[in-house]
Amino acid sequence: MNNHTITVSDLRDAPHFFDDVADRIWRAWWEPQGFPLDHISGLLEESLAHDAEALCLVAHDGDRFVGTASVIASDLEERPDLTPWVAAVWVDPPFRGSGIGGDIVLKAARAALRTGAKAVHLCALPGKRAFYERLGWRLDETDVGEDRLDVFSMRRT
Ligand SMILES: CC(C)(COP(=O)(O)OP(=O)(O)OC[C@H]1O[C@@H](n2cnc3c(N)ncnc32)[C@H](O)[C@@H]1OP(=O)(O)O)[C@@H](O)C(=O)NCCC(=O)NCCS
Repeated sequence: MNNHTITVSDLRDAPHFFDDVADRIWRAWWEPQGFPLDHISGLLEESLAHDAEALCLVAHDGDRFVGTASVIASDLEERPDLTPWVAAVWVDPPFRGSGIGGDIVLKAARAALRTGAKAVHLCALPGKRAFYERLGWRLDETDVGEDRLDVFSMRRT
């Protein structure tokens, strides 16, 4: 895959990707729990409209959706004191393994830190530990909650 043609945009500037983003987030994390697509579309729309610090990035090759990552205020019920979070990191299967996921995660983290936060957080299943550590995320906690998630942070340098 030629990465040079991939652009990363703020979804607010490329709103025609809204349905693709909502669809991928829904399929990956919400449909398996029985939520309707409208539920996640509504949450995404609301957070972009009303939370100035929320951010959704979309990676695309021209008009073709490639991937997404978001910055949200809270992501993990067990850690309500931590904010903000990089969440909903997704790259469509044909585009995986060429650095796009890593790139979009770091762009989201930098955007969160630019808003003034001292640290940005991220939680993931342990299978993704090597991926995030390689990108410079610090592993702060393991085995959090029912899903035994890893919790990472990245700090302003
Ligand atoms: C996790 C995910 C976002 C990664 O996206 P990606 O675009 O494949 O990410 P990258 O290409 O940056 O890195 C993925 C792998 O490719 C490797 N890689 C990166 N650049 C590479 C290159 N130029 N050539 C070959 N391999 C490369 C990385 O080392 C990494 O290896 P790993 O699988 O051992 O960790 C993607 O697999 C995905 O959408 N998965 C489903 C949703 C998900 O699990 N999201 C994370 C929730 S926490």
